Amino acid sequence: MTWPACAAEAAATDPPPDRWPELLPRLGRDGSFSLYSRGVEEGFHSASGALQEAREKFVTPAALERFAPGRELVVAEVAVGTGTNTAAMLAAGAAAGLDLDWWGLELDPRPLALALADARFRAQWPAAVIRRLEALTSSGRLLIGDARRRLPQLLGPLKGPLKGRCDLVLLDAFSPLRCPQLWSREFLERLVRLLRPDGRLLTYSSAAAVRRCLVDLGLEVRALRPPECEPGRWSAGTVAGFAPLAAHPALRPLEPFEREHLASRAGLPYRDPSGTSTAAEILERRRREQERSPAPAARRRQHGGPSGLGRAGEHR
Ligand SMILES: C[S@@+](CC[C@H](N)C(=O)[O-])C[C@H]1O[C@@H](n2cnc3c(N)ncnc32)[C@H](O)[C@@H]1O
Repeated sequence: MTWPACAAEAAATDPPPDRWPELLPRLGRDGSFSLYSRGVEEGFHSASGALQEAREKFVTPAALERFAPGRELVVAEVAVGTGTNTAAMLAAGAAAGLDLDWWGLELDPRPLALALADARFRAQWPAAVIRRLEALTSSGRLLIGDARRRLPQLLGPLKGPLKGRCDLVLLDAFSPLRCPQLWSREFLERLVRLLRPDGRLLTYSSAAAVRRCLVDLGLEVRALRPPECEPGRWSAGTVAGFAPLAAHPALRPLEPFEREHLASRAGLPYRDPSGTSTAAEILERRRREQERSPAPAARRRQHGGPSGLGRAGEHR
Protein backbone atom coordinates (compact mmCIF):
# COMPACT_ATOMS: atom_id res chain seq x y z
CA MET A 1 0.00 0.00 0.00
CA THR A 2 1.38 3.44 -0.89
CA TRP A 3 1.17 6.46 1.43
CA PRO A 4 -1.80 8.05 -0.29
CA ALA A 5 -3.60 4.69 -0.15
CA CYS A 6 -2.73 4.38 3.55
CA ALA A 7 -4.02 7.85 4.19
CA ALA A 8 -7.21 7.08 2.28
CA GLU A 9 -7.74 4.09 4.54
CA ALA A 10 -7.51 6.25 7.64
CA ALA A 11 -10.80 7.55 9.02
CA ALA A 12 -11.81 11.17 9.17
CA THR A 13 -11.09 11.07 12.91
CA ASP A 14 -7.41 10.22 12.33
CA PRO A 15 -5.11 13.23 11.98
CA PRO A 16 -4.61 14.03 8.27
CA PRO A 17 -1.06 13.55 6.90
CA ASP A 18 -0.43 17.29 6.92
CA ARG A 19 -0.91 17.20 10.73
CA TRP A 20 1.41 14.27 11.32
CA PRO A 21 4.28 15.35 13.60
CA GLU A 22 7.71 16.12 12.22
CA LEU A 23 10.04 13.12 12.57
CA LEU A 24 13.79 13.57 13.04
CA PRO A 25 16.21 10.69 12.44
CA ARG A 26 18.61 9.89 15.26
CA LEU A 27 20.97 7.12 16.32
CA GLY A 28 20.92 5.27 19.63
CA ARG A 29 24.03 4.43 21.65
CA ASP A 30 24.10 1.05 19.93
CA GLY A 31 24.29 2.85 16.55
CA SER A 32 20.83 1.71 15.46
CA PHE A 33 18.39 3.90 13.55
CA SER A 34 15.64 5.64 15.50
CA LEU A 35 13.38 8.67 15.27
CA TYR A 36 12.35 11.58 17.45
CA SER A 37 8.82 12.95 17.15
CA ARG A 38 8.76 16.76 17.32
CA GLY A 39 4.99 16.85 17.87
CA VAL A 40 4.97 14.31 20.70
CA GLU A 41 8.34 15.51 22.02
CA GLU A 42 9.51 11.98 22.63
CA GLY A 43 11.94 9.56 21.03
CA PHE A 44 10.78 6.30 19.50
CA HIS A 45 13.34 4.43 21.59
CA SER A 46 15.45 4.94 24.69
CA ALA A 47 18.94 6.39 24.39
CA SER A 48 20.41 2.88 24.53
CA GLY A 49 19.09 2.31 21.01
CA ALA A 50 16.26 0.73 19.05
CA LEU A 51 18.00 -2.57 18.48
CA GLN A 52 19.05 -3.10 22.07
CA GLU A 53 15.59 -2.14 23.28
CA ALA A 54 13.85 -4.49 20.86
CA ARG A 55 15.97 -7.42 22.02
CA GLU A 56 15.88 -6.61 25.70
CA LYS A 57 12.25 -5.56 26.09
CA PHE A 58 10.48 -7.69 23.53
CA VAL A 59 12.52 -10.59 22.13
CA THR A 60 14.05 -11.81 25.41
CA PRO A 61 10.84 -11.72 27.49
CA ALA A 62 8.93 -13.34 24.60
CA ALA A 63 10.95 -16.46 25.54
CA LEU A 64 10.66 -18.01 22.09
CA GLU A 65 12.50 -21.09 23.37
CA ARG A 66 9.10 -22.09 24.87
CA PHE A 67 7.85 -22.99 21.40
CA ALA A 68 8.70 -26.08 19.40
CA PRO A 69 10.35 -25.39 16.02
CA GLY A 70 7.82 -25.43 13.20
CA ARG A 71 5.13 -23.80 15.33
CA GLU A 72 3.29 -20.77 13.93
CA LEU A 73 3.39 -17.84 16.34
CA VAL A 74 0.55 -15.31 16.27
CA VAL A 75 1.84 -11.82 17.09
CA ALA A 76 -0.02 -8.50 17.35
CA GLU A 77 2.12 -5.38 17.57
CA VAL A 78 0.79 -2.00 18.65
CA ALA A 79 2.78 1.06 17.49
CA VAL A 80 4.93 -0.55 14.82
CA GLY A 81 6.85 2.68 14.09
CA THR A 82 10.16 1.96 12.37
CA GLY A 83 9.49 -1.78 12.42
CA THR A 84 12.52 -2.46 14.64
CA ASN A 85 10.55 -4.68 17.04
CA THR A 86 8.90 -6.38 14.07
CA ALA A 87 12.25 -7.10 12.44
CA ALA A 88 13.78 -8.29 15.71
CA MET A 89 10.87 -10.68 16.30
CA LEU A 90 10.95 -11.93 12.70
CA ALA A 91 14.71 -12.55 12.90
CA ALA A 92 14.52 -14.25 16.30
CA GLY A 93 11.51 -16.30 15.18
CA ALA A 94 13.32 -17.50 12.06
CA ALA A 95 16.40 -18.42 14.14
CA ALA A 96 14.12 -20.47 16.42
CA GLY A 97 12.44 -22.18 13.46
CA LEU A 98 9.13 -20.36 14.08
CA ASP A 99 6.87 -18.80 11.49
CA LEU A 100 5.23 -15.52 12.51
CA ASP A 101 1.59 -14.78 11.74
CA TRP A 102 2.13 -11.05 12.33
CA TRP A 103 -0.41 -8.21 12.60
CA GLY A 104 0.39 -4.59 13.34
CA LEU A 105 -1.38 -1.36 14.30
CA GLU A 106 0.16 2.02 13.49
CA LEU A 107 -1.13 5.53 12.92
CA ASP A 108 1.63 6.80 10.69
CA PRO A 109 3.21 4.89 7.78
CA ARG A 110 6.23 7.23 7.57
CA PRO A 111 8.46 5.71 10.32
CA LEU A 112 8.61 2.32 8.59
CA ALA A 113 9.26 3.97 5.21
CA LEU A 114 12.02 6.15 6.72
CA ALA A 115 13.65 3.11 8.35
CA LEU A 116 13.51 1.09 5.14
CA ALA A 117 15.15 4.00 3.29
CA ASP A 118 18.06 4.03 5.77
CA ALA A 119 21.09 1.94 4.81
CA ARG A 120 22.14 1.37 8.45
CA PHE A 121 18.69 0.07 9.32
CA ARG A 122 18.67 -2.30 6.36
CA ALA A 123 22.16 -3.57 7.19
CA GLN A 124 20.92 -4.69 10.62
CA TRP A 125 18.68 -7.40 9.22
CA PRO A 126 18.86 -10.48 6.99
CA ALA A 127 17.53 -9.92 3.47
CA ALA A 128 14.49 -12.12 4.19
CA VAL A 129 13.49 -9.87 7.10
CA ILE A 130 13.85 -6.74 4.96
CA ARG A 131 11.68 -8.34 2.27
CA ARG A 132 9.02 -9.11 4.87
CA LEU A 133 9.10 -5.52 6.17
CA GLU A 134 8.84 -4.17 2.62
CA ALA A 135 5.80 -6.34 2.02
CA LEU A 136 4.01 -5.25 5.21
CA THR A 137 2.28 -2.20 3.81
CA SER A 138 0.65 -4.24 1.05
CA SER A 139 0.02 -7.32 3.22
CA GLY A 140 -3.25 -6.08 4.71
CA ARG A 141 -1.80 -6.99 8.10
CA LEU A 142 -0.43 -3.56 8.95
CA LEU A 143 -3.57 -1.67 9.89
CA ILE A 144 -2.94 2.03 9.43
CA GLY A 145 -4.95 4.50 11.51
CA ASP A 146 -5.68 5.19 15.17
CA ALA A 147 -5.10 1.85 16.91
CA ARG A 148 -8.22 2.42 19.03
CA ARG A 149 -10.30 2.41 15.89
CA ARG A 150 -8.45 -0.39 14.10
CA LEU A 151 -8.10 -2.84 17.00
CA PRO A 152 -11.78 -3.88 16.97
CA GLN A 153 -11.20 -5.08 13.40
CA LEU A 154 -8.75 -7.64 14.77
CA LEU A 155 -11.21 -8.71 17.45
CA GLY A 156 -14.21 -8.79 15.14
CA PRO A 157 -17.84 -8.43 16.23
CA LEU A 158 -18.14 -12.11 17.14
CA LYS A 159 -14.87 -13.88 16.57
CA GLY A 160 -12.24 -11.71 14.91
CA PRO A 161 -9.16 -13.20 13.28
CA LEU A 162 -7.07 -12.74 16.40
CA LYS A 163 -9.51 -12.96 19.31
CA GLY A 164 -7.95 -15.27 21.91
CA ARG A 165 -5.31 -16.39 19.38
CA CYS A 166 -2.25 -14.26 20.07
CA ASP A 167 0.85 -15.81 21.56
CA LEU A 168 2.37 -12.36 21.90
CA VAL A 169 0.98 -8.84 22.08
CA LEU A 170 3.66 -6.13 21.87
CA LEU A 171 2.74 -2.68 23.16
CA ASP A 172 5.31 -0.01 22.30
CA ALA A 173 3.31 3.23 22.21
CA PHE A 174 4.72 6.58 23.28
CA SER A 175 4.74 6.90 27.08
CA PRO A 176 1.43 7.09 28.97
CA LEU A 177 1.83 10.79 29.70
CA ARG A 178 2.31 11.53 25.98
CA CYS A 179 -0.08 9.02 24.45
CA PRO A 180 -2.56 7.91 27.14
CA GLN A 181 -4.96 6.87 24.35
CA LEU A 182 -3.02 3.60 23.97
CA TRP A 183 -2.71 2.90 27.70
CA SER A 184 -6.32 3.39 28.79
CA ARG A 185 -8.20 0.69 30.66
CA GLU A 186 -10.54 0.36 27.70
CA PHE A 187 -7.72 -0.10 25.17
CA LEU A 188 -5.78 -2.51 27.41
CA GLU A 189 -8.93 -4.52 28.02
CA ARG A 190 -9.33 -5.00 24.25
CA LEU A 191 -5.68 -5.89 23.80
CA VAL A 192 -5.95 -8.53 26.49
CA ARG A 193 -8.85 -10.11 24.59
CA LEU A 194 -6.40 -10.91 21.81
CA LEU A 195 -4.34 -13.19 24.06
CA ARG A 196 -4.43 -16.95 24.07
CA PRO A 197 -4.80 -18.42 27.57
CA ASP A 198 -1.02 -18.87 27.65
CA GLY A 199 -0.22 -15.71 25.61
CA ARG A 200 1.88 -12.82 26.87
CA LEU A 201 1.57 -9.07 26.66
CA LEU A 202 4.96 -7.34 26.57
CA THR A 203 5.69 -3.67 27.10
CA TYR A 204 8.58 -1.43 28.07
CA SER A 205 6.29 0.47 30.45
CA SER A 206 6.47 -0.10 34.19
CA ALA A 207 3.77 2.49 34.92
CA ALA A 208 1.58 1.65 37.91
CA ALA A 209 -1.59 2.64 36.01
CA VAL A 210 -0.79 0.11 33.28
CA ARG A 211 0.20 -2.72 35.61
CA ARG A 212 -2.81 -2.14 37.84
CA CYS A 213 -5.16 -2.46 34.83
CA LEU A 214 -3.51 -5.71 33.80
CA VAL A 215 -3.83 -7.10 37.33
CA ASP A 216 -7.48 -6.00 37.46
CA LEU A 217 -8.06 -7.78 34.15
CA GLY A 218 -6.93 -11.01 35.80
CA LEU A 219 -3.40 -11.21 34.45
CA GLU A 220 -0.29 -12.19 36.33
CA VAL A 221 2.22 -9.36 36.06
CA ARG A 222 6.00 -9.64 36.18
CA ALA A 223 8.66 -6.94 36.04
CA LEU A 224 11.37 -7.06 33.43
CA ARG A 225 14.77 -6.80 35.08
CA PRO A 226 16.88 -3.87 33.86
CA PRO A 227 20.24 -4.72 32.30
CA GLU A 228 23.15 -5.05 34.73
CA CYS A 229 24.81 -2.00 33.17
CA GLU A 230 21.95 0.14 34.53
CA PRO A 231 22.17 -0.52 38.29
CA GLY A 232 20.07 2.51 39.33
CA ARG A 233 16.97 1.28 37.52
CA TRP A 234 14.31 -0.85 39.20
CA SER A 235 12.39 -2.18 36.19
CA ALA A 236 12.76 -2.19 32.41
CA GLY A 237 9.19 -3.09 31.56
CA THR A 238 6.30 -5.46 32.15
CA VAL A 239 5.24 -8.93 31.04
CA ALA A 240 1.69 -10.13 31.70
CA GLY A 241 -0.28 -13.28 31.01
CA PHE A 242 -3.24 -15.30 32.31
CA ALA A 243 -1.30 -18.47 32.92
CA PRO A 244 1.39 -18.48 35.60
CA LEU A 245 4.49 -17.13 33.89
CA ALA A 246 7.31 -19.65 33.95
CA ALA A 247 10.42 -18.46 35.79
CA HIS A 248 12.82 -16.68 33.46
CA PRO A 249 16.09 -14.90 34.30
CA ALA A 250 14.82 -11.67 32.69
CA LEU A 251 11.64 -11.61 34.80
CA ARG A 252 10.91 -11.15 38.50
CA PRO A 253 7.73 -10.92 40.58
CA LEU A 254 6.63 -7.44 41.58
CA GLU A 255 8.35 -6.19 44.74
CA PRO A 256 6.23 -5.12 47.74
CA PHE A 257 6.97 -1.44 46.99
CA GLU A 258 5.65 -1.92 43.43
CA ARG A 259 2.43 -3.52 44.71
CA GLU A 260 2.03 -0.64 47.14
CA HIS A 261 2.49 1.74 44.21
CA LEU A 262 -0.29 -0.01 42.24
CA ALA A 263 -2.66 0.59 45.15
CA SER A 264 -1.78 4.29 45.30
CA ARG A 265 -3.25 7.08 43.17
CA ALA A 266 -0.49 6.40 40.64
CA GLY A 267 -2.29 3.13 39.92
CA LEU A 268 -5.53 4.84 38.86
CA PRO A 269 -6.10 3.96 35.21
CA TYR A 270 -6.23 6.23 32.20
CA ARG A 271 -9.88 6.22 31.10
CA ASP A 272 -11.18 6.64 27.56
CA PRO A 273 -14.72 5.22 27.58
CA SER A 274 -15.62 6.51 24.10
CA GLY A 275 -12.30 5.52 22.55
CA THR A 276 -12.12 8.95 20.94
CA SER A 277 -10.79 11.22 23.71
CA THR A 278 -7.75 13.37 23.11
CA ALA A 279 -4.61 12.90 25.22
CA ALA A 280 -5.39 16.12 27.09
CA GLU A 281 -8.92 14.94 27.91
CA ILE A 282 -7.70 11.58 29.20
CA LEU A 283 -4.99 13.17 31.35
CA GLU A 284 -7.40 15.72 32.78
CA ARG A 285 -10.00 13.01 33.55
CA ARG A 286 -7.37 11.02 35.44
CA ARG A 287 -6.11 14.09 37.30
CA ARG A 288 -9.64 14.77 38.54
CA GLU A 289 -10.12 11.13 39.58
CA GLN A 290 -6.82 11.21 41.44
CA GLU A 291 -7.90 14.35 43.29
CA ARG A 292 -11.13 12.69 44.40
CA SER A 293 -9.63 9.28 45.15
CA PRO A 294 -9.34 8.00 48.73
CA ALA A 295 -6.26 5.99 47.63
CA PRO A 296 -2.97 7.10 49.21
CA ALA A 297 -0.73 9.40 47.23
CA ALA A 298 2.19 7.68 45.51
CA ARG A 299 5.28 7.56 47.67
CA ARG A 300 8.53 8.63 46.09
CA ARG A 301 11.35 6.20 46.63
CA GLN A 302 15.01 6.93 46.69
CA HIS A 303 17.21 4.96 44.32
CA GLY A 304 14.84 5.17 41.37
CA GLY A 305 11.64 3.61 42.67
CA PRO A 306 8.44 3.55 40.66
CA SER A 307 8.87 7.18 39.76
CA GLY A 308 12.15 6.37 37.98
CA LEU A 309 12.88 7.90 34.62
CA GLY A 310 11.09 6.56 31.58
CA ARG A 311 12.12 6.09 27.97
CA ALA A 312 12.41 9.74 27.12
CA GLY A 313 13.78 10.78 30.48
CA GLU A 314 10.45 11.91 31.90
CA HIS A 315 8.51 10.43 34.81
CA ARG A 316 5.64 8.14 34.04
C1 LIG B 1 7.41 4.80 20.49
S1 LIG B 1 6.93 4.84 18.81
C2 LIG B 1 6.98 3.15 18.33
C3 LIG B 1 8.35 2.57 18.20
C4 LIG B 1 8.36 1.35 17.36
N1 LIG B 1 7.93 0.18 18.06
C5 LIG B 1 9.70 1.16 16.70
O1 LIG B 1 10.37 0.16 16.95
O2 LIG B 1 10.07 2.05 15.94
C6 LIG B 1 5.20 5.09 18.93
C7 LIG B 1 4.46 4.90 17.63
O3 LIG B 1 3.07 5.01 17.94
C8 LIG B 1 2.43 5.58 16.83
N2 LIG B 1 1.13 6.11 17.29
C9 LIG B 1 0.89 7.26 17.98
N3 LIG B 1 -0.43 7.38 18.26
C10 LIG B 1 -1.03 6.28 17.74
C11 LIG B 1 -2.38 5.83 17.68
N4 LIG B 1 -3.37 6.54 18.24
N5 LIG B 1 -2.64 4.67 17.05
C12 LIG B 1 -1.63 3.95 16.49
N6 LIG B 1 -0.34 4.32 16.52
C13 LIG B 1 -0.04 5.46 17.13
C14 LIG B 1 3.41 6.62 16.33
O4 LIG B 1 3.18 6.95 14.98
C15 LIG B 1 4.74 5.91 16.56
O5 LIG B 1 5.15 5.24 15.40
